[in-house]
Amino acid sequence: CVFKHAQSASEYVAGQIADLIRQRAAEGKPCVLGLATGSTPTTVYAELVRLHREEGLSFAGVHTFNLDEYYPMQPNELQSYVRFMNENLFDHIDIDRANVRIPDGTLAEEDVLAHCANYEQQIEELGGVDIQVLGIGRTGHIGFNEPGSGRDSRTRMITLDKKTRQDASSDFFGEDYVPRRAITMGVGTILESAQIYMLAFGEGKAKVVAEAVEGEVTPIIAASFLQDHPNSIVVLDEAAAARL
Ligand code: GLP
Repeated sequence: CVFKHAQSASEYVAGQIADLIRQRAAEGKPCVLGLATGSTPTTVYAELVRLHREEGLSFAGVHTFNLDEYYPMQPNELQSYVRFMNENLFDHIDIDRANVRIPDGTLAEEDVLAHCANYEQQIEELGGVDIQVLGIGRTGHIGFNEPGSGRDSRTRMITLDKKTRQDASSDFFGEDYVPRRAITMGVGTILESAQIYMLAFGEGKAKVVAEAVEGEVTPIIAASFLQDHPNSIVVLDEAAAARL
């Protein structure tokens, strides 16, 4: 789906999410959302906050699983995805905090493996992710699935690509301060979602979007695996779609 501007694209995705939340609430069932960080989905979250405030959209029955977190990372640090999600969404809606999950960047290294397995199990116990929101990194990553991430990869600790650390350097006031690792949901985990929206805005994403959407399906570009998903929609503004 190509929209003229990021704002209308974001309103479309937020509308799809809101429809599902209302439908699940009417059925008395939980709604499970997979959420992304980065600058791209912030306008989707702003629209969801607006729908909550102005149209009474309730998140009481919503469960969320975030894709990733830097490792190590304390939740109160400036660059933490916990902090990002609180500031952009959770602090402004009526979600039950017990229903919010974000990979834990504070764990001791020996506890990460069990944490990742437990993350997967929690998703499964809720019946899987209904809607997964994704951005895309310049390396073609979804979540933090850097080049080399296979189709069957699961939630795990990964090493960040140099390009990704360069892109994050301004957030961390210098590349040297960007963590070298992160915990991310795997490509296989993401592909099990019932519906996926991958968003990309701006000309800086045009090249990687073209590779992901029209290139070979390959672990070198993790987002290319979305080509094989039956319900995945790539939502772009005109600038990000320029090389298609
Ligand atoms: C980070 C996140 C990804 C996100 C990517 C792109 O690497 N872990 O989930 O998609 O950044 O970020 P942005 O949307 O700011 O371009």
